[in-house]
Amino acid sequence: MRLAVFFSVLASSGLQIHALSPEYLACQLQKAASSSPLTGCPEGTLFVSPTDTRANFTKVQDAVASLPETGAATILIGNGEYFEMLNVARSAPLTLLGQLDPATASDLAGNASQRNLVHIWNNLYVQSGVTDEETATLTIAPSSGQNFGNTNFRAYNIDFENRAANYSISQALVTSITYANASFYGCVFASWQDTWYTGSGAYTYAFDSIIYGQTDYLFGYGTAWFQNVTLANRACGGGITAWQGTSGTKNGAYIADSKIIRSPDANSTTVTDKKCYLGK
Ligand SMILES: *[C@@H]1O[C@H](CO)[C@@H](O)[C@H](O)[C@H]1NC(C)=O
Ligand SMILES: *[C@@H]1O[C@H](CO)[C@@H](O)[C@H](O)[C@H]1NC(C)=O
Ligand SMILES: *[C@@H]1O[C@H](CO)[C@@H](O)[C@H](O)[C@H]1NC(C)=O
Ligand SMILES: *[C@@H]1O[C@H](CO)[C@@H](O)[C@H](O)[C@H]1NC(C)=O
Ligand SMILES: *[C@@H]1O[C@H](CO)[C@@H](O)[C@H](O)[C@H]1NC(C)=O
Ligand SMILES: *[C@@H]1O[C@H](CO)[C@@H](O)[C@H](O)[C@H]1NC(C)=O
Repeated sequence: MRLAVFFSVLASSGLQIHALSPEYLACQLQKAASSSPLTGCPEGTLFVSPTDTRANFTKVQDAVASLPETGAATILIGNGEYFEMLNVARSAPLTLLGQLDPATASDLAGNASQRNLVHIWNNLYVQSGVTDEETATLTIAPSSGQNFGNTNFRAYNIDFENRAANYSISQALVTSITYANASFYGCVFASWQDTWYTGSGAYTYAFDSIIYGQTDYLFGYGTAWFQNVTLANRACGGGITAWQGTSGTKNGAYIADSKIIRSPDANSTTVTDKKCYLGK
């Protein structure tokens, strides 16, 4: 009932929040305790929650690891904090859905940082013996011996963060995506240095999402399209982008209809005006 009312209000307002998926929203909205959290979800969807006793798993990675090698899969992630690293190696399609609160999901003035209830985070950073890629909170790459990883990874309304420090401690990745196709809708990616990595052979797309960083925070060798994103400078250093294209290919970082802002959580003493280079 509550859902039906919500949808009719959205429809009658004529306005759309593009970060919300018409296909998955019914699944993502939190339900009354008497209804299954999986109401409105695609058949076979797994439910992850750190607190709900009806969940199939308490960790997202355990749900990912349980999936068969073939067949499209969907995982609904309940609201909460997930201190873990995700590693997606399966090649069959995978959709991760972040649960949303019906009261805030519909706020037209809202943004992903306010809206998202699911926070997946880790806190590794590059120090002796640790490579860049090993620090990523979310890794999407082929399993060993395979040429290509996930063919259609999608995430909706999820915060992925690297909380190694509240300053640029060294490289501390949020995403590491190589030889895979991945897209993100209404997500948040938060770190300071090297937040986003689209590596070799990867095609990535991010829509209506917020990316926080300071130094080289969009970097890679692959093909990345950022559409209607907010790039939030927590400070300045290196460049916002650090990309190595390959001549004769279309590899690169494409940024369209997006904005660069001073991050709301930048230290008040940090100067960002006219100091942040677009690329290095
Ligand atoms: C996941 O949990 C739901 C109950 O919330 C149950 O109906 C479903 O069978 C479980 N799925 C698996 C694969 O165990
Ligand atoms: C990955 O995406 C690219 C660009 O859209 C496409 O050409 C390619 O076929 C996709 N690869 C797979 C395995 O789906
Ligand atoms: C970063 O700041 C937040 C908010 O003040 C605090 O809770 C957190 O512990 C800090 N993180 C580190 C790694 O110091
Ligand atoms: C994307 O951003 C452009 C420019 O700000 C805006 O005109 C457009 O409506 C946005 N598109 C979506 C789907 O939000
Ligand atoms: C998200 O919205 C809140 C409330 O309007 C605002 O304070 C904050 O600056 C916004 N964040 C970004 C990254 O735009
Ligand atoms: C802000 O920066 C100053 C100067 O670098 C530092 O002393 C202070 O601890 C920082 N504050 C926070 C909240 O990180």
